[in-house]
Amino acid sequence: MSTLDINFVRSQFPAFSEPSLQGQAFFENAGGSYTCKPVLDRLTRYYNQRKVQPYAPYEASRLAGEEMDEARARMAAILGVETDELSFGPSTTQNTYVLAQAFRQWMQPGEAIIVTNQDHEANSGPWRRLADEGIEIREWQIDPETGSLNPMDLENLLDENVRLVCFPHCSNVIGEINPVTEITAIAHAAGAFVCVDGVSYAPHGFPNVGDLGPDIYLFSAYKTYGPHQGCMVIRRTLGEMLPNQGHYFNGDLLYQRFTPAGPDHAQIAASAGMADYIDLLCDQHSGPTGEAAERGSFAHDLMRSHEVALLQPVLDAVKDRNAVRLIGTSDASRRAPTVALALNRNAEAVAADLTGYGIMAGGGDFYAVRPLTAMGVDPDQGVLRVSFTHYTSQQEIDQLLNALDDVL
Ligand SMILES: Cc1ncc(COP(=O)(O)O)c(C=O)c1O
Repeated sequence: MSTLDINFVRSQFPAFSEPSLQGQAFFENAGGSYTCKPVLDRLTRYYNQRKVQPYAPYEASRLAGEEMDEARARMAAILGVETDELSFGPSTTQNTYVLAQAFRQWMQPGEAIIVTNQDHEANSGPWRRLADEGIEIREWQIDPETGSLNPMDLENLLDENVRLVCFPHCSNVIGEINPVTEITAIAHAAGAFVCVDGVSYAPHGFPNVGDLGPDIYLFSAYKTYGPHQGCMVIRRTLGEMLPNQGHYFNGDLLYQRFTPAGPDHAQIAASAGMADYIDLLCDQHSGPTGEAAERGSFAHDLMRSHEVALLQPVLDAVKDRNAVRLIGTSDASRRAPTVALALNRNAEAVAADLTGYGIMAGGGDFYAVRPLTAMGVDPDQGVLRVSFTHYTSQQEIDQLLNALDDVL
């Protein structure tokens, strides 16, 4: 396994050479990442050269439509699914909301959905609201100390009434990576579909969703180095069975069934830049030259090993500190580099203190009110969250550790 060429990586992100950001170390990546150059280049080209109604016969339009199709085809291939099983919507929250409407129409009163109290509200609230329609909502609860979800607890919640199990690939405050394949197998064995919120995981390497096995996998491209789009994989069996939420005459197109909003053409086209970036990473590190999913998996492992190596010292530095509670596991290999700390004072104020050290981080509840409350953290006090990705350097980690040493 080669090690990540961090200089190459950073050269692909214009933010790192932006004068106004010099000396500023970015640690709010779980909120939204920097955008990679291939995406920015495509976005600019689209607006300059192709900003016409796509899919018409004239040249600019043909190119616009082709680029949108390219984005879906190449990203689907990286994710290990069919091209029409991937669709783009305005955001993950919006995508979940539409899906919940489809399940509302498909399900009968008395049938059940399992949600967790580990999820960001986006994969929780829209499902829970179906209780108003007579759908039973069962909550798979985390351990209040560790924040972990135990698959055995899920088994106890499942029965023949459960139609759907929703859970995160990893939480945006707890960070622990859930065993998606194992959980999916348990849910499928009980006859339930599975919806995974991958928003906090996908920035750390696109997973092969086909291999992982869920029926729905959601993530947000503005956190995976791309434009502000929600990406949604819906596997064919489920997608064709749920009622169409788009215009009636588009119902035969799987990728249009759950995206009723008019698409943001430029951003969808620019999403092909995320695939370009994966290709660039592979080529730079002499990765596989074959299938997109294989290249995606290589880039995933490359990112992940860099992140884990940088993360462990951060966890070690905070885990035994007085007046600091590390949320989630202190084992870097089991979590994303999204580190939430509960403190004995308001977290937003601490984030403000960090600005004096050139650290860009945030404090608050991060729409993870349920997990924080379940772990006994006052959401009003919030958590300080420092989150990074594969483009973070050792120097930035050192800058962070020095700053934390002073302010905590
Ligand atoms: C884990 C998780 N899920 C869902 C979302 C919502 O994504 P979007 O902003 O695309 O609606 C977020 C956003 O921060 C998130 O962190």
